[in-house]
Amino acid sequence: MKTPPSLPLPLLGGLTATDFLADYWQKRPLLIRNAVPGFICPVTPDELAGLACEAEVESRLILERDGPSPWWVEHGPLAEERFAQLPETHWTLLIQECQKYLPELVQLMEQFDFIPSWRVDDVMASHAPPGGSVGPHLDQYDVFLLQAHGHRRWQISDKKVAPDNFLPDLDLRIMREFEATDEWVLEPGDMLYLPPGLAHYGVALDDCITLSVGFRAPGHGELLGRFVDHVLTGHDPSQRYSDPELTPSKNPGEISPAARQQCRDIIRMLMCEALDDNSTDGFDSWFGQFITETKNEDTVEAPEHTLESAQLVQLFQDHQTLHRSEYARFAYIAREDGVDLFIDGRCFSLSSDLAFAAPLLCNQHHYPFSRFSEKLKAGPDHTAFAHLLTELYNCGYVVTATP
Ligand code: SIN
Ligand code: CO
Repeated sequence: MKTPPSLPLPLLGGLTATDFLADYWQKRPLLIRNAVPGFICPVTPDELAGLACEAEVESRLILERDGPSPWWVEHGPLAEERFAQLPETHWTLLIQECQKYLPELVQLMEQFDFIPSWRVDDVMASHAPPGGSVGPHLDQYDVFLLQAHGHRRWQISDKKVAPDNFLPDLDLRIMREFEATDEWVLEPGDMLYLPPGLAHYGVALDDCITLSVGFRAPGHGELLGRFVDHVLTGHDPSQRYSDPELTPSKNPGEISPAARQQCRDIIRMLMCEALDDNSTDGFDSWFGQFITETKNEDTVEAPEHTLESAQLVQLFQDHQTLHRSEYARFAYIAREDGVDLFIDGRCFSLSSDLAFAAPLLCNQHHYPFSRFSEKLKAGPDHTAFAHLLTELYNCGYVVTATP
């Protein structure tokens, strides 16, 4: 198992992960010069344009000036010809979930291993010519903005943003007024961390690529709504409000305190039952499945030919490395009698003798055969672990090559 880094990380400008989390994470911005020394941008503007033409890729083109109206947004897939018609300045191309398409970005994401991976959302790439920007705005989530190519001027504002300080009728939430309280020009390898809710404004100074490692945090409403949906799936609809002790009403128009109390009690009881983790169908299992669901429908592709355990072990030996599919999210929850492994919204309940498999599969993106071989073979037999790995391979969650 990996141990969390305790030495200062260059990525964090010499801070330890502990100090970064205590002093900056979700609290205040941090500029880190040369966070990734010698960083070489893993993608070219042409490759990003190519991705924007793919149907499965989530992309947006934002034109500040030359669209039908200011801050015009076009959603991908874009036609190849679109790129020939673009103006010289003031546009931005955004590509979401680039880690699915660019293996080098998985290494970048691994640098953030001191943060639980269920909190990591994706790596977004933006490409812009001079003047390109998505406008002053704020995001609801933490983000690390790594300058990958060219230069970008970032301004931040620590002023409170009024709810009506946004331009109306746009496909983007852009602030009407933005008063910068700090600014920096980022060079390749520099990185800016921004906590959620902090107003920021990045403008490309030349041909510029920025990589944003974004985090996810479920909204309270989303948590409640999705959990209630889950509770309702197994709910018996014949259970109803009942009042066999009803006495004659003096005020038939009134909803009595007793009636209100009974309804409150029903909701409290249903929630308490559902939140009780002694039930196998309880909150933990639901949460693991919910939080490993992927945002988009495209998701995982099963291999053309399924394998038996012996074939999988042979394939692993031949390739020497297998990989987690970047189309699936992996996480686990330790139980007293084993582990629940969650992949892509599914739960695999593992007994305690297989519990070692969960951190092995979830704490890293690449699986070297040397670290797995002992666990895969037990004498002439293939172990339960080999069967599990085979099942994951047959589902497309474990693959021979990424992406
Ligand atoms: C960009 O890369 O242009 C925008 C990223 C952001 O502001 O979150
Ligand atoms: Co932003």
